[in-house]
Amino acid sequence: MSFIVAIDGPAGAGKGTITKLVGERLGLVNIDTGATFRCVALNMIQENIKIEEEKKIQEVLDKIHIKMEPNGKIFLNEKEVTKRIRENDVNDLVSPVSTLPIVRNKLLEIQRKIAEGKNVIMEGRDIGTVVFPNADVKIYLDATAEERARRRVLQNQEKGIEASYEEVLEKIKERDKRDSTREIAPLKKAEDAIYVDSTNLNIDQVVEEVINIIKDVSK
Ligand code: DC
Repeated sequence: MSFIVAIDGPAGAGKGTITKLVGERLGLVNIDTGATFRCVALNMIQENIKIEEEKKIQEVLDKIHIKMEPNGKIFLNEKEVTKRIRENDVNDLVSPVSTLPIVRNKLLEIQRKIAEGKNVIMEGRDIGTVVFPNADVKIYLDATAEERARRRVLQNQEKGIEASYEEVLEKIKERDKRDSTREIAPLKKAEDAIYVDSTNLNIDQVVEEVINIIKDVSK
């Protein structure tokens, strides 16, 4: 039997940071499902496959091997890609890739397998609605698009990436729209998920709130 905490929400709401910190505090294995979509996008880039080439994408999916180590390192077909999957070409391709049913079906299988028999905190877009509809705790972590853009610009500056606030905000809105209007497994709050708005909270405050919710629900 495993204990599952599902954290869903839009890009830039802080899911990655919060999931990692809460996982460390509560001894839960942290699983970033966005990274699995990023691995598929990277594999397509490596093999020079376009989004329309469904047959070739299926071939990639048939032999893909994704490994996530407890220390956060991610391996695609036995090679470490932890940093590579955060680069711009992957950022641009991953959202369209995540709308493809063949990709979602395959990754659903992989994501469920990764969590098997473990106590996990899993972040994504459809964890509480599709991947683990019976998760023990479901949280929907949100923030306004403007606040998420502000955070992303700061992160980019730390990494030495230049992009204006307006440009980043535009991309975030585009991605929100695509993620929440796609036909299969769209981004939406599960009916029984607890809504957390992080717009006016700092990281420590969100971590405390999420830990309190998990403790409360699992009493
Ligand atoms: O969280 P992220 O930015 O690494 O996610 C990358 C893309 O993958 C994003 O466009 C949405 C998609 N995604 C998804 O559709 N379902 C998930 N469970 C996780 C991510």
